[in-house]
Amino acid sequence: MISIFRLKNIISIKDFEREDIEYILNEASKLENIAKSKETCEELKGKILGLMFFEPSTRTKLSFETAIKRLGGDGIGFENSGSSSVSKGESIADTAKMFEGYCDALVIRHELEGVSKFISGIVDVPVINAGDGAGQHPTQTLLDLYTIKNEIGSIDNLKIALIGDLKFGRTVHSLSNALSLFNNVKIYLVSPKELKMPQEILIDLNKTNIEYEEVDNIESIIDDVDVLYVTRIQKERFPDIDDYMKIKGAYVINKKMLEGKDLIVMHPLPRIDEIAGDVDDTKYNKYFTQAANAVPVRMAILKTLIKNNPK
Ligand code: CP
Repeated sequence: MISIFRLKNIISIKDFEREDIEYILNEASKLENIAKSKETCEELKGKILGLMFFEPSTRTKLSFETAIKRLGGDGIGFENSGSSSVSKGESIADTAKMFEGYCDALVIRHELEGVSKFISGIVDVPVINAGDGAGQHPTQTLLDLYTIKNEIGSIDNLKIALIGDLKFGRTVHSLSNALSLFNNVKIYLVSPKELKMPQEILIDLNKTNIEYEEVDNIESIIDDVDVLYVTRIQKERFPDIDDYMKIKGAYVINKKMLEGKDLIVMHPLPRIDEIAGDVDDTKYNKYFTQAANAVPVRMAILKTLIKNNPK
């Protein structure tokens, strides 16, 4: 029986036990009817969510806004530092203290690793990391796991290929850490040599029972996996644009290569060209479902954190 959620803040998936993940996925299942029927409830009536987005976002910001509204609350915030007084020189710390006075929880995206953790140390309301540079994206991982559980039936015994930018991709960092909490999981790490999974994540994996293998092509593993988890090569993370141009388009999934395979294709999105448009209308496409699953999962996160930590 999953009866408690221990965390006040969601900063890194490494702070989670398996039971914490299962708690959120279970809550999300219960909220899915409201999310999918486009209704609202009064679970968080009168509660305000603060959204501090210093980096661009479509899915994370809009799904958090949708989630708080479907729970009967509301959201306030900004979507770049240029539209806040940070542009006048106000510190992130002072900005966060203002949000603390106005809100019941804070969601923060920033291009620097560690910003959410820093803010969680100076405010009393729950803080949620919505992506910190090339660090972590824990709420994306929770919706990824929710999608895998719904589509495959179980996270235990999973075989998954993480493809693309494993060096800077925060979604694959968080997901790798989370998968190591489950039983009999194998991860194939598929990337160009320039974008391999960082050593610190491999060291984390080596401390667990998870099996992983680094490979440089999709063909060698495509018959062996349940999930192809594709990521974008992130132009904005390359200090030198020439380095980006050399590996841009290194991996492209198309309909022909999927025919006859027993797998699903996931992607945290946005995509550029790494999944061809002809995959969209096939049974393999679960990336739009994955994006929609953000609403019940983020509803579960907000309900849990705000109810467990009243102001
Ligand atoms: N998956 C994800 O984080 O998308 P956004 O950058 O649009 O929020």
